[in-house]
Amino acid sequence: MKKIILLIMLSLATLNADYRVPVKLPSITFPIAVDKDFRVMQRNCQWCHSYGYILNQGKQSKEYWNKIVVRMRDVFKAPITKKDEKTVTEYLFKHYGVK
Ligand code: HEC
Repeated sequence: MKKIILLIMLSLATLNADYRVPVKLPSITFPIAVDKDFRVMQRNCQWCHSYGYILNQGKQSKEYWNKIVVRMRDVFKAPITKKDEKTVTEYLFKHYGVK
């Protein structure tokens, strides 16, 4: 019984970790291309993760970008319309497509 009480106390002790040293988190910004379709992409792609996810893919084919947009909708349930799917795919390929 004493062992169980001791274990419970030890596991709860970590909840009381006290940080007195201020922690400065790095702020990372990802420069993204801005054109007439930027706002459509922003409306559809900005609210779950940073643009880093897009930029880290490197230059890709149109098919690749379309699969990504469709994946965001079908797998992660982003409410992307058919019209926006086309516009965002074009935008991604225009700026981050293979030549
Ligand atoms: C509903 C939330 C949501 C929205 C909106 C969203 N994504 Fe994602 N995205 C995710 C999740 C979740 C992952 C997977 C994260 C992981 O694996 O760590 C992801 C991953 C990615 C990746 C990395 C490759 C991959 O397939 O895992 C890319 C590129 C990407 N998203 C691009 C986009 C683009 C472009 C849009 C706009 C069309 C978009 N995302 C909108 C949720 C979203």
